[in-house]
Amino acid sequence: MGAGKTTIARALGLPHVETDADVPIALFDEGEPAFRAREAEVVRDVLQRVEPVVVDLGGGAVTTPEVRALLEERAIVVWLDVDLAVAWERVEGSDRPLAQDYDDFKRLYEERRPIYADLADVVARDVDDVVLAVAGVHVERGSLERLRELVPGEGPVALVSDPRVSGIHGMDAQLALGARLGETHELPAGEEAKTLTAVDRLWQDLRLDRSGTIVALGGGCTTDAAGFAAATYLRGIAWTPVPTSLVAQVDAAIGGKTAIDLPQGKNLVGAFHWPARTVIDPALLQTLPEAQRLEGMAEVVKAGLLAGEPFWELADDKLVRRSVAFKAAICLRDPHERGERAVLNLGHTFAHALEAAADYEGITHGRAVALGLLAALRLSDRDTAVVEEVLRPQPVRVDAERAWQAMKRDKKARGGEPRFVLLGDDGPRAGVVVSETAARRELDRLIA
Ligand SMILES: NC(=O)c1ccc[n+]([C@@H]2O[C@H](COP(=O)([O-])OP(=O)(O)OC[C@H]3O[C@@H](n4cnc5c(N)ncnc54)[C@H](O)[C@@H]3O)[C@@H](O)[C@H]2O)c1
Ligand SMILES: [Zn+2]
Repeated sequence: MGAGKTTIARALGLPHVETDADVPIALFDEGEPAFRAREAEVVRDVLQRVEPVVVDLGGGAVTTPEVRALLEERAIVVWLDVDLAVAWERVEGSDRPLAQDYDDFKRLYEERRPIYADLADVVARDVDDVVLAVAGVHVERGSLERLRELVPGEGPVALVSDPRVSGIHGMDAQLALGARLGETHELPAGEEAKTLTAVDRLWQDLRLDRSGTIVALGGGCTTDAAGFAAATYLRGIAWTPVPTSLVAQVDAAIGGKTAIDLPQGKNLVGAFHWPARTVIDPALLQTLPEAQRLEGMAEVVKAGLLAGEPFWELADDKLVRRSVAFKAAICLRDPHERGERAVLNLGHTFAHALEAAADYEGITHGRAVALGLLAALRLSDRDTAVVEEVLRPQPVRVDAERAWQAMKRDKKARGGEPRFVLLGDDGPRAGVVVSETAARRELDRLIA
């Protein structure tokens, strides 16, 4: 009571049931047992659903043993831990039968705490905590050292890395996994990992059975390729990305997309395969070269613009946490990219056009996104200062006509009409049609 459950449940934007709304408070006049029995029925019904749903549970529901058993079996239980004083301030003066007297309220609060502590899978303080818990993302400085307990399950682990990351953080990861480490594998560095040849080799080298977990330690190329191997090996086994680059921490390892490339284009073969858990240790970024950091900052700025909050101003740990929670919330609401997730392509239609015109050489994705963000902001009549200051994008030398043709071919284009994500006054909008003249003009401004 007074923990802010309803506010947070609504903020998640997922289908949401308030059990209290279906259990008439008047039942309390017939005594608490009648109320609890009806409440247990409601909880049972909701937890039978196949579709994920956020259940906003009355504070006393867990005093019923049947409810506790159902929750243990069917739910991720998040405990919103608030101070007694805060909770009381919120409920004081309300008509809730159990919140009429401070001393009674305090007694209940103290009685229930151990039950909550025992039942909770996660203790949360804010919406981000809840999103991260539900998405299975663990963000914590130093979490690499706790890898053994953080990789769900008891089965053996196959550690997959790239030569560079393996040289820097591989030994720490191996030590942390201890007795769970069954095998280690190396993927080639960079995009070379995202080829059928590399994944075929990994498939053939893997010795895990279905109880095993692939742990992907590295940048986005490693997590994409190892995640795809996990999605396909033995028809799909569990995996845990441990992203080490900023791109991978805030973007590639979040949302369950895995992929390899084809000669025809990037990420053309893949699978949605949500990790069993994602373990993010911001301390790993300390060894990341500055240029790689800037690659990730392009996605951080993108996320901050979409969220309307300056994520880029935060210190590392918070910057990663906010960016991750922002993307994870969208992906939870739209796991298979059928709707809302499209907004994450802000700046990307232009970026892809520039990358394609350069044959993916001599321009990095982050630099292309930085330029794409400029164009998207200009088309949205927004100030571009943030992008200029944080990402310092310089126009690229590519053939303008080739870039334009690539943009028209972009997979988001319908009937040759490029569509864009723009920022409106009330948030981002995807699928916006812009006149060819305006789109071409903005594209040309990005080219040296
Ligand atoms: N699946 C998705 O949703 C998604 C989203 C965004 C990007 N991606 C993919 O991610 C890939 C790009 O990821 P990336 O930029 O991380 O590339 P990457 O994996 O090639 O890593 C970049 C470089 O940084 C090195 N590195 C990584 N972590 C390090 C560390 N802690 N210290 C020192 N060096 C480190 C790597 O060895 C590599 O040389 C692309 O293939 C892209 O398609 C996927
Ligand atoms: Zn991107």
